[in-house]
Amino acid sequence: MTKDFVVTPWEVKGDIDYEKLIRDFGVKHVDSKVMQEMEKLTGGLHYFLKRKIFFAHMYFDEILNEAKRGNKFYLYTGRAPSGPVHLGHLVPWIFTEWLQDKFGATLLFQIPDEEKFLFKENLSFGDTDKWAYENILDIIAVGFDKKKTKIFLDTEYAGHMYKTACAVAKKTNISTLKSLFGLNDSNNVGEYFYTCMQSVPAFLPTIMEGKQTKCLIPCAIDQDVHFRLTRDVANGIGFPKPATILSRFLPGLAEGGKMSSSIENTAIFTTDDENTVRNKIMKYAFSGGRDTVTEHRKHGGVPENDVSYQYLTYFMEDSNKLKKIYEDYKSGKMLTGELKEITVEVINEFLEKHQKKRELAKGVLEDFMLRD
Ligand code: TRP
Repeated sequence: MTKDFVVTPWEVKGDIDYEKLIRDFGVKHVDSKVMQEMEKLTGGLHYFLKRKIFFAHMYFDEILNEAKRGNKFYLYTGRAPSGPVHLGHLVPWIFTEWLQDKFGATLLFQIPDEEKFLFKENLSFGDTDKWAYENILDIIAVGFDKKKTKIFLDTEYAGHMYKTACAVAKKTNISTLKSLFGLNDSNNVGEYFYTCMQSVPAFLPTIMEGKQTKCLIPCAIDQDVHFRLTRDVANGIGFPKPATILSRFLPGLAEGGKMSSSIENTAIFTTDDENTVRNKIMKYAFSGGRDTVTEHRKHGGVPENDVSYQYLTYFMEDSNKLKKIYEDYKSGKMLTGELKEITVEVINEFLEKHQKKRELAKGVLEDFMLRD
């Protein structure tokens, strides 16, 4: 039986087979050996690792070796500004913040405003400017260290990136781009060039330090294709290959696929108020419960299919509490309504804190920016 699903940087849909992605993308499992090494270095593991939310990697073991030897490495991630930030976007950022804290690493945060300008028919640079500002508030709210975090817009910082982007472009032919990204003859030339710009920050650590410096990219697995290309060209133009650590997608409220801003009522945005969050979860969160209370009590629910339960795996840190909820829901002791009630509370508590930090970010935004 083959299930239909798609995972590209522009589209994620269907019932995603993550094991198949590991094989197709040629990346590795975050296995117990890597986790043990990590635990030795950091004195503990983030629950995203324990729960396999970050489940795959490439060369992450080399980054750990670098850290063991006391060598510097950089972190790099990004956000294309085309709309509001939802909970799914925060997942890699929360993990990146934890890594920055544990390793004291400098973080480069790319805002590729040209990406969305090029790929989205109706989006102007006026729009991307507005969303860049809004999105950067969310990024800062995650808690990055302002002394060690550099956020930049591609169209502003391009002067420092363009030569390196050209070096990548020179090593990249159209047929590679067509097969890697599924582009065709109707795509505009900017869409072909864009990936070269997404490669550059992986090389900036070496440029900034003036010596070979490794880079670790935490991101959702849909971005992996960009960095496969980056790795393919890296050595040939004098840079080390970047490492990645890759996450699953936070599901949308409806069944299947990832949380997405473009599908109405499937996303919880960082600026949603308490009631909006409550209504969305109560009304739309796909339930793994049975049709009637009697049946539910008798057969129990299916936490694996239940979106509220899935959200708790991302946002409830207390693993004992989570385990109890899993067992009670599975046995039928806990009903869908009760599970949703807990989820509403957990998410609202998270968002209340996030929104406060987001307000404060307005006063310190410039401290984080790398302007040209
Ligand atoms: N292409 C990403 C997006 O669509 C943005 C991005 C740029 C990014 N550089 C990155 C994401 C590095 C993860 C890691 O949002």
